[in-house]
Amino acid sequence: MDVIDAIKKRRAYRSLIPVNITEDLINDLGNCIRLSASCFNNQPWRYLFVYKPDVLRSMHEVLSSGNEWAKSASMIIAVFCKKEDDCIIHDREYYLFDTGMATAFMILRATELGLVAHPIAGYSPKKTRKILGIPDNYNVIALVIVGKKSDKINPVLSEKQVQAEKIRPSRLNIDEFIYYNRFSKK
Ligand SMILES: Cc1cc2nc3c(=O)[nH]c(=O)nc-3n(C[C@H](O)[C@H](O)[C@H](O)COP(=O)(O)O)c2cc1C
Repeated sequence: MDVIDAIKKRRAYRSLIPVNITEDLINDLGNCIRLSASCFNNQPWRYLFVYKPDVLRSMHEVLSSGNEWAKSASMIIAVFCKKEDDCIIHDREYYLFDTGMATAFMILRATELGLVAHPIAGYSPKKTRKILGIPDNYNVIALVIVGKKSDKINPVLSEKQVQAEKIRPSRLNIDEFIYYNRFSKK
């Protein structure tokens, strides 16, 4: 097994060139999603793959400023779910957790296939629902921007975004978020 390779290789790149989107690719990603774990096997996740050029273009208007780069996407995947479709145990609502896990599987598989699959929160869920016909009772929790990494920096990127193309944004050290056997103040 070499899951570690995909984990290490995955990056939220923003300089993208086009990639051919096929039904095989979508089925491949869908099959990875469906193998993910979920509470009571409820499988609350829903994914809408947008790759038809005219629909893709209409999705440009949902993007927040700062996500201009996503206009170079060859595919935008809308990730949505609703809380009634998954376990609710007292104050614990599992629909976002389970959908997040499944989305991570999809992103890792896309990475393995040599693609960039970059999740974003900077978009209008309301406009997304309207354009794609997603009912109001679904929470559109992310869009995943798909393309191929370009070696040329996208000129629309901010200085910070340009830096992030070159060096992975820094992370907490393990000892800042891991506890051994008992919680303790950091
Ligand atoms: C839930 C979520 C929302 C994000 N939203 C955006 C976004 O709106 N725009 C963007 O450019 N990147 C977005 N990102 C990407 C992060 O900025 C990126 O993952 C982080 O800086 C770490 O970089 P790396 O993934 O390349 O290691 C988002 C990532 C996640 C998981």
